[in-house]
Amino acid sequence: MQILSLIRERFESALNGWVKNPLEHVQRITPARDPQHGDYQANIAMPLKAELGKAPQAIAAELVAKLKLDDICEPLEVAGPGFINLRLRNDFLARQLEQSARAERLGIEPATQVKTFVIDYSAPNVAKPMHVGHIRSTVIGDALARILRFLGHRVIADNHLGDWGTQFGMIIYGYKNFVDPSAFQSTPVPELSRLYRLVQTLIGYQESLPKLPFAEKKLAEAQAALVALETSKLDEKQKAKELKAAKKSIDSAQEGLDSLNAKVSPVASNPELVELSKAHEQLEKRCQLETVKLHEGDAENLALWNQFLPLSIQEIEAVYRRLDIKFDHTYGESFYHPMLEGLVQSLVDQGLAVTSEGAICIFLEGFDAPMIIRKSDGAFLYATTDLATIEYRMKHFQPDAILYVVDFRQSDHFQKLFAAARAIGYSNVQLNHVSFGTVLGPDGKPFKTRSGTVLGLEYLLDEAVERAYQAVCDPDRLMKAGLDFTEDDKREIANIVGHGAIKYADLSHNRTSDYEFNIDKMVSLEGNTATYIQYMYARTGSIIRRSEMEVNDANLHEFPIQIQQQAERDLALNLLQFEDALHQVTVEYLPNMLTVYLYGLAKQFATFFEECPVLKAEDQATKRSRLAICYATGKVLRQGLELLGIGVVPRM
Ligand code: ARG
Repeated sequence: MQILSLIRERFESALNGWVKNPLEHVQRITPARDPQHGDYQANIAMPLKAELGKAPQAIAAELVAKLKLDDICEPLEVAGPGFINLRLRNDFLARQLEQSARAERLGIEPATQVKTFVIDYSAPNVAKPMHVGHIRSTVIGDALARILRFLGHRVIADNHLGDWGTQFGMIIYGYKNFVDPSAFQSTPVPELSRLYRLVQTLIGYQESLPKLPFAEKKLAEAQAALVALETSKLDEKQKAKELKAAKKSIDSAQEGLDSLNAKVSPVASNPELVELSKAHEQLEKRCQLETVKLHEGDAENLALWNQFLPLSIQEIEAVYRRLDIKFDHTYGESFYHPMLEGLVQSLVDQGLAVTSEGAICIFLEGFDAPMIIRKSDGAFLYATTDLATIEYRMKHFQPDAILYVVDFRQSDHFQKLFAAARAIGYSNVQLNHVSFGTVLGPDGKPFKTRSGTVLGLEYLLDEAVERAYQAVCDPDRLMKAGLDFTEDDKREIANIVGHGAIKYADLSHNRTSDYEFNIDKMVSLEGNTATYIQYMYARTGSIIRRSEMEVNDANLHEFPIQIQQQAERDLALNLLQFEDALHQVTVEYLPNMLTVYLYGLAKQFATFFEECPVLKAEDQATKRSRLAICYATGKVLRQGLELLGIGVVPRM
């Protein structure tokens, strides 16, 4: 039930034929910020002053007289300079809640204007271990897919796997030169990861070693500059300013040196690795050659790629299974490779792309550099694949929108890609970079373990499940709550709570900001966590169980709702705003609009529970009404969490 749209419709009818643009004016009806002003407030009269040539209060009074809202609202009030305050009638709230609570989809009608969305999310680079950064794209994309689908839209979930990139050159080179055959035989995936890391380490070393002397010199110079400054005769204020700047450049020089050393020392401290590096000079080039050979269709490299790809995909799929993530397609970059040559040629033929300094480029208005789609050595780029992907999607899915759920660091790429797509003539599709920030560690830097590598995703999931077990299945807690679980029960609860905690922590932050990864906070039974909401869900069920009455969709009409207390009213209104919250998510593709709603609802339920006894209600009718309210709350909480990809348990 979208109460707001219903009210807006009534206003629209009243304004029709009276003012020029009713639809525009009804947008200024919003939920009231201050409950003293009712539930909703309409700021319509003031902006109409010029058009109607009357005092806003008079306009508001006239509008009130025309409005037919008495089945929904208490008598309307005109306040201050011409606001109209709306307060929903309690019996309206009660009837609406009864209806939606027993409806299968909580009374939410599927969209009448069905749109097609392609959502491009997760998309890890295959053969590199998945890490915490991949959670964001996966979880945000999945939530958007679920919500848009639930609202009745057509959603095509496409995992644009990075399965064709330079990492394969590295693995192929590593395999040809460094493989441990027996390890590959018995545990191929870890062996491939080892080869990837080994090659990456050696490349990092070779790249950083020659830069060390410069970085050391830079640091020495910055330090000398500071010493000189300290003894200089500048006036105090100027000196303080320059000292600050000098210290800053020392810090940045030190940081530069440290990051080089972090790449040099793992090899330098290991004579065996130093030997390997000597024997494989210019390793990056060698790997690039392997990639080029693969892309040109070299039989040996293609066979190796075909052997490695399914192995790495298995690993990624294990994570998807744990997180209950599903895609309609996993085409990946390799799928588009055969289309690239023809695409570039046709863009050249149409005069949209031109050769510049040996490379083929698309020049775009408003951008300093062109978009390169084929390098002078003949290689295609990430951008070329993305253009081919748009072409393919437009042809096969005719989407109204394509959402790219990708790290904010790629925003330049997408700005250019979208401009190129427009230049090519794709104007009837909304292209949207649904970008997100970084997952941070407690030090405020991108999340890493002590050893300096970004944490593997599987390890993190295990850790979250373990912490969930400790937090929720603590024996003292269970005893106090009178919960008698078997070990299997506990493991199942820990799984659902642990995985839910990771997802919720990610979704509950505005996606555009960075957030700190803190497992203990995530699984806490208090605060804005999935655990708290899951717990409130379980409470709704436990109250109903203890009533020893059966409550379900089919017999809910035997539990008529009556709204007497403020806490009942607040909760009922909140429950009826679920659909509004879902629509809010879709405006700017912000799943946190739903977490804010669910957290608010869970807290509202806690207040209701404190203030309105259910099992000990003063009479049977009140008890039945409150049971129905518990039932409705459980249903909305469960559905809301499900749309975020998070499960619930009946008891916890
Ligand atoms: N594989 C890329 C990466 O990990 C993300 C791909 C996003 N999707 C796209 N169509 N470019 O950086």
